[in-house]
Amino acid sequence: MKNIQLNNGLTIPQIGFGTAAIGQWQQDDQHVEDVVLSAIEAGYRHLDTASVYGNERSVGQAIAESGIPREEFFITTKVWDTEQGEHSTQQALQRSLQRLQLDYVDLYLVHWPNPEKTQKTWQAMETLHAQGKIRSLGLSNFRKSDIQQILDFAEIKPVYNQLEIHPYLQQQELVRYCEAQDIAVSCWSPLGSGSWSGVAIEEKPVSDRVIKQIADKYQVSTAQVILKWDLQKERIIIPKSETLKNIQSNLNPGNFTLTDEDIAAIDALDKGHRYGADPDTALQGNLNIKVPD
Ligand SMILES: NC(=O)c1ccc[n+]([C@@H]2O[C@H](COP(=O)([O-])OP(=O)(O)OC[C@H]3O[C@@H](n4cnc5c(N)ncnc54)[C@H](OP(=O)(O)O)[C@@H]3O)[C@@H](O)[C@H]2O)c1
Repeated sequence: MKNIQLNNGLTIPQIGFGTAAIGQWQQDDQHVEDVVLSAIEAGYRHLDTASVYGNERSVGQAIAESGIPREEFFITTKVWDTEQGEHSTQQALQRSLQRLQLDYVDLYLVHWPNPEKTQKTWQAMETLHAQGKIRSLGLSNFRKSDIQQILDFAEIKPVYNQLEIHPYLQQQELVRYCEAQDIAVSCWSPLGSGSWSGVAIEEKPVSDRVIKQIADKYQVSTAQVILKWDLQKERIIIPKSETLKNIQSNLNPGNFTLTDEDIAAIDALDKGHRYGADPDTALQGNLNIKVPD
């Protein structure tokens, strides 16, 4: 599997496995463990979780049960809005590590921007990095202004920004800004969101007519076309699935190459449509969502 080189010299597998709302939101049980284990068996080594997903225990248990050495995995987790701040970030990572049964995470992200807390949160993350508990520091849902704020004081530059990106929300200007700063771009909800969004499949880009035409041309699925579009743009993807066939095919999206024309046709589908929250307005609602113990 292809790796992407980060600005600190470390690498990340380009395809990861998303773990939000396996089963249901904040479900943390044998079902979650079984799904994650089946992803590991299918070949995923990059797993994306978060304290607020409430499933770090099952993710950690699946890693332990796989019997695969820790150093072969790339594990990402995130500090939630209610956990931001100097001491609270340190405590949050400690709790995540305990739940995951790990000594360190490969990538720790600020889940959503909260400009008032950013500096203290980031400096706590830099301390945790110095202690060897985090290999790389990154961002999620950070706008250009949030990134500029970090770059003004950061001793350690963010390696990565995880953004909602799919054919209907492409955030092209922000992506260009991240790339110009040598900050890798990772796409969350790359297929247009999981069941947590409550959006019908007919409304998602996997049902798009233009993408279906391209998929028919290569005799692949629309999901494969969307993921290939991201991969050819050198972006990281973290699709989530509970269906073995999809788990497998998302990791191997097919032996075909989209033409420039195909890519332009998908680029033209952008309608600025978010399935998830908007960083301009998310904070207040996020502060009402608690991280389970
Ligand atoms: N940083 C953030 O703020 C943030 C926010 C949201 C999500 N995320 C991360 O991004 C990950 C992925 O996002 P997501 O879970 O919202 O959505 P997603 O990966 O875009 O889509 C998941 C949905 O697509 C279906 N699916 C998966 N593979 C498919 C395929 N090959 N063909 C057809 N349908 C397929 C899944 O159903 P089946 O299970 O039946 O396959 C599921 O309903 C999350 O799990 C999480 O790790 C991050």
